[in-house]
Amino acid sequence: MNHYLQYCKPSLSSALMSIGLDKTYHRAQGQYLYYKDSHGGEKAVLDLLGGYGAVLLGHNDPALKQRAIELLQADTPMHHQFSIRSGAGGLAEKLQPLLKKETGWPDDFRCAYTSTGAESVEIAIKHSEMIRGHKLDLLSQQSERALEQAALAWEQGEEVSLSLSEEQTQAHPTLQGASRDKLLAYIRDYNANVLQQPPVFIALNHAFHGKLTTSIQLTHGAMYRQPFRRLGLRTEFASIAQLDALCRGEEAWIALPELLLPKKTKSGWQLAGVPVPRVAAVLAEPVQGEGGVYVLTESDAEVLHRVRDKLGCPLIADEVQSGSGRCGSLLAGSQIGLKPDYVVLSKALGAGLSKLGVVAIRSGQYADGFDILQSSTFAEDEMSCQLAAAYLDRLFEEEGRVLAKVRDLGELLLGALKGLHHRYPDVIKDIRGKGLLLGIEFHSQENAPAHLIRTSAYQGALGYLLTGHLLNEYGIRVAPPASAGSVLRIEPTILLTQPQIDELLYALDRVCLAMRYQDTGFLMHF
Ligand code: F0G
Repeated sequence: MNHYLQYCKPSLSSALMSIGLDKTYHRAQGQYLYYKDSHGGEKAVLDLLGGYGAVLLGHNDPALKQRAIELLQADTPMHHQFSIRSGAGGLAEKLQPLLKKETGWPDDFRCAYTSTGAESVEIAIKHSEMIRGHKLDLLSQQSERALEQAALAWEQGEEVSLSLSEEQTQAHPTLQGASRDKLLAYIRDYNANVLQQPPVFIALNHAFHGKLTTSIQLTHGAMYRQPFRRLGLRTEFASIAQLDALCRGEEAWIALPELLLPKKTKSGWQLAGVPVPRVAAVLAEPVQGEGGVYVLTESDAEVLHRVRDKLGCPLIADEVQSGSGRCGSLLAGSQIGLKPDYVVLSKALGAGLSKLGVVAIRSGQYADGFDILQSSTFAEDEMSCQLAAAYLDRLFEEEGRVLAKVRDLGELLLGALKGLHHRYPDVIKDIRGKGLLLGIEFHSQENAPAHLIRTSAYQGALGYLLTGHLLNEYGIRVAPPASAGSVLRIEPTILLTQPQIDELLYALDRVCLAMRYQDTGFLMHF
């Protein structure tokens, strides 16, 4: 612990100490993590965080662990870049029918591998910009051709002046009555500028897509994004209602530029406006985890499809957390009819034992040569790919027994938490989630009579206070999503039992009671 504090995470370690979360876990099995108390005795903690979504079957699942041992004992080549890699190919093949079924697309998917969620998101957006770049290159050629044709025609004596719409005159006042050369130079420059504009990405309010230098700009939580805002990527955050308004043409909160192309029509030369793809991609998490556990609906999915069509860009489903079985299907989006062009998976797909991410891109939208431009030393490593394949087999064996269990357990837990909400409507604001990705939102305590409760609410730390209490008093591990301090996120494994749900409910009941009566002493006692 001291070394961690000194050499790795000084600020975080101090924060963990202040709320009693400074445990060092030395063993993990199934639903439990174990630490030694101050007397050296082993204490078990019921882990309802599941590695923030990376562990669905339980810690160190025996069969998957056995698979990892077999691979090691067979001296399996783990890192053999620049060869035909059977693990990566086999996993991609296994994913094909599953992705087709759950997205509803008949296309094959091309799979790009990575090691983490954020890296996967970055690969997805990099690919979307490559596709946008191809479209811009074509438009650039079109623009050059149109300008050449116009120049030629005018050299041959045709009328130079263009008839401009009122809008065009307002937008380009210097064009009215300009000479031929000035006109052509202006249009060439203007088009070059438009084609040079960097891409814009659209992400939803409360989005979380990672913390690397690019993906952090797609993450809504200002605390994480703001310090790095000068680094680049332009993102527009929007609600589904705003996206809907954009599709209906009721709101134009994003500037969509047009190229100017001289075009000969029956009534002479005119300046045609040709839309330029400015937005490279729209990103959405079917169930947001880090942002506070918000669930998209079927009608939200339809809006996302419409905005994708209007903007002519891919829809990227970030299923890093919600996917890989966490919500009861490979893709949480399949439960709301979401048809993404790219699917991003990571976390649980690594079977709780390895680090792996996959970006699956519809083959019809795949940029030729992207696989040569994109690579990483650890991507496609045999251990991760083989474990992910074994994990998928587990999810889908016996007609998807594991997935059915996730759905059933999720319903059971959701029902139990809704019962708690019913008993404490003054304390709990909302219960939401899907499958085994659930959230409890507490009412704001910013006006709470008890000083400490009020202060922690102000600092966005109420959830952390409760987390420390639940861990130390009841041996239950949950945590707030980093961007939603008044929410508790619950991500159990499929091993969860009814007695454990009762245990959780008992502990939460006591917490709600303490909040109702503002019993700071009780909440701080650990
Ligand atoms: N996308 C989503 C939807 C995520 O939930 C996460 C991580 C990432 C991308 C980034 O993945 O951490 O492997 O780079 N979510 C964690 C959380 C941090 O708290 O939910 P990563």
